[in-house]
Amino acid sequence: MADLFSSYQLKDVTLRNRIAIPPMCQYMAEDGVANDWHKAHYATLARGGSGLVIVEATGVAPEGRITPGCLGLWNDTQTAQLREIAASIKAAGAVPGIQIAHAGRKASANKPWEGDDHIAENDPRAWQTIAPSAIAFGGDLPRVPNAMSIDDIQRVKQDFVATAKRALDAGFEWLEIHFAHGYLGQSFTSAHSNQRTDAYGGSFENRSRFTIETLEAIRAVWPENLPLTARFGVIEYDGKDEETLSESIQLVKAWRERGLDMLSVSVGFTIPETNIPWGPAFLGPIAQRVRNEAGIPVSSAWGFGAPSLADNAIRKQELDLAMIGRAHLENPHWPYFAAKQLGKDDAAWVLPAPYAHWLARYRSPTLD
Ligand SMILES: Cc1cc2nc3c(=O)[nH]c(=O)nc-3n(C[C@H](O)[C@H](O)[C@H](O)COP(=O)(O)O)c2cc1C
Repeated sequence: MADLFSSYQLKDVTLRNRIAIPPMCQYMAEDGVANDWHKAHYATLARGGSGLVIVEATGVAPEGRITPGCLGLWNDTQTAQLREIAASIKAAGAVPGIQIAHAGRKASANKPWEGDDHIAENDPRAWQTIAPSAIAFGGDLPRVPNAMSIDDIQRVKQDFVATAKRALDAGFEWLEIHFAHGYLGQSFTSAHSNQRTDAYGGSFENRSRFTIETLEAIRAVWPENLPLTARFGVIEYDGKDEETLSESIQLVKAWRERGLDMLSVSVGFTIPETNIPWGPAFLGPIAQRVRNEAGIPVSSAWGFGAPSLADNAIRKQELDLAMIGRAHLENPHWPYFAAKQLGKDDAAWVLPAPYAHWLARYRSPTLD
């Protein structure tokens, strides 16, 4: 039976364990370019022992960033900096992954610690957002986006493709398409945010079109032997959960048939008013249902940070990979401490060799 510390193979990529670090925006970039902060941050996370480190939501175009501090991957300078980050993750024994993203109507926002709301329209740092329909998210994000023309749709798809190529060129071996959290992909799939009357809106089939076409175009340039994954909110907790979940599972099947290798199961966050049953590992049973009914490996995050919860989710086959986010910010060596807590003998083997060797063999007081 697999547990949290079993290795995991997807396509030609093998992770040293089932612990993955989900994408977590740092909001520390300028012009989308990663800097010394990102280098320190990702190298630290990778050496902590997880199998996979997914670099934060990285915009496929300037207007697709959530905030002016978000990473981007549309030019050579950005590619060069991310190449160093991918290499440092790999050097620490983890597989380098990246999430590529377009924030749609939630873009042009202030950093979380500077308000987390839309930048004021008269502020020169603000930009016009785009989305399937001219409907604002609401709440702290009131800006009305421009409804995308067919040309806009084609352009953004090509932006995703170009960014996927750059991610490969930079050395990433695991690609996650951000179709979740109320950003552009998610907002095409949801009738809350997509009220188009053309081929990209209306019926479930039409609302699925943008993500299916984008996925197909990315798969055509992303190597067959490397994992192509997506993050998607399969449920909104808006009172229509069964309907949304069964549509989501149909959509995930359609993606799987077109080459998706794994789904990171999340919540939609398409509208501000929802009733999310926050709690430890609350998405476990939902992820398992997607895994079984869509027939695809799954990962999930949100509250698996207690080691026994993450380990149980793997053992119960709710998850193939456990995403451990905030617990890694608190303790970059979470995998080591998780192994110790779960009673694994001499947990030091979780760590890269230079650490593991000394921790396992020379714990003598004379070296203290
Ligand atoms: C600082 C921070 C930044 C985040 N940025 C992203 C992101 O770039 N993309 C994404 O899909 N989720 C993002 N999330 C959500 C995390 O990937 C993860 O789902 C969340 O932290 C819940 O998992 P946890 O309970 O293990 O922390 C972010 C979360 C945090 C705390």
